[in-house]
Amino acid sequence: MSDPVIRRTTREDFVASSDPALQEAADRGDVNLLSYRELYHLWERQQWSVQDIDFSQDRIDWNERISPEERFQRMYGLSSFFLGEQRVTAELAPIMRAAPSEDMRIFLSTQIADEGRHVAFFDRFYHEVGVLEADDLQERLAESENHVNPKFRELFDEMLHERVDRLAREPEDLETMVEAVTIYHMVLEGMLALTGQHFIIEYNEQQGTLPGFVEGFSNVARDEHRHVAFGSRFLREMAERDERYRTAITRTLELVAPIAEDVLRPHWYEEGMPLFGYSISEVRAFALKALERRLKAIGLVAVG
Ligand SMILES: [Fe+2]
Ligand SMILES: [Fe+2]
Repeated sequence: MSDPVIRRTTREDFVASSDPALQEAADRGDVNLLSYRELYHLWERQQWSVQDIDFSQDRIDWNERISPEERFQRMYGLSSFFLGEQRVTAELAPIMRAAPSEDMRIFLSTQIADEGRHVAFFDRFYHEVGVLEADDLQERLAESENHVNPKFRELFDEMLHERVDRLAREPEDLETMVEAVTIYHMVLEGMLALTGQHFIIEYNEQQGTLPGFVEGFSNVARDEHRHVAFGSRFLREMAERDERYRTAITRTLELVAPIAEDVLRPHWYEEGMPLFGYSISEVRAFALKALERRLKAIGLVAVG
């Protein structure tokens, strides 16, 4: 199997983010992470518009070319993303407020706008394509709750939410900030979102389905690489600053990464079932490889 992480590195706009997962050199610990200000400038150059995407072919594909069983299977990934984007949009403001420097805060403000745009993207896709029989965003979100793994709620509504709540009360608590960024940027975006995006985009490209969705979702993935690049830089600085923060990153990953691995597997999945042409172990390997490269860049995994 050719390394899927390496195959993705060919997209120039993804590589521009400096996300260590996209740099082969990260295996040797040789990464150059952009500064917060450079990441902000990249955001200015990488704008896109949800309302410009044409979903007319997607509507035909979804309703006439994709079977009801496959639509049900696809609902797992789509619902996890739709709800995941909604959750992270809601949780980011206290993290932005707690950021210890102004340059970080400027970047995180752009990320809040991105996450809102990602929710708007899914909402428009669902509406235009007719994925659910629901009248508005609120109803579409409520309906999507039926399609996700119960572990999803543990991850977003307990692990992340509890730390963000603590940060909202005590924004100067840097250790909680480090834990929140580890969960948000390293696990939810780095391990889950970018892995799901990779396999869902590949599958649609192979099948020639949902071209509007693929266009928008590739823009979402480009945004996520920028977000994860921020998280990598922030955690590297914190790990260098204090041993206590290094321990906080490791402790949080040990607690949260196994739950994230569970979320990568649909609750109805049975061993050996082909999942859009891939096995669960390939999906898992992709997520772990990306995490390993980022941890090397942060300085938490020995290079070799
Ligand atoms: Fe997002
Ligand atoms: Fe994000």
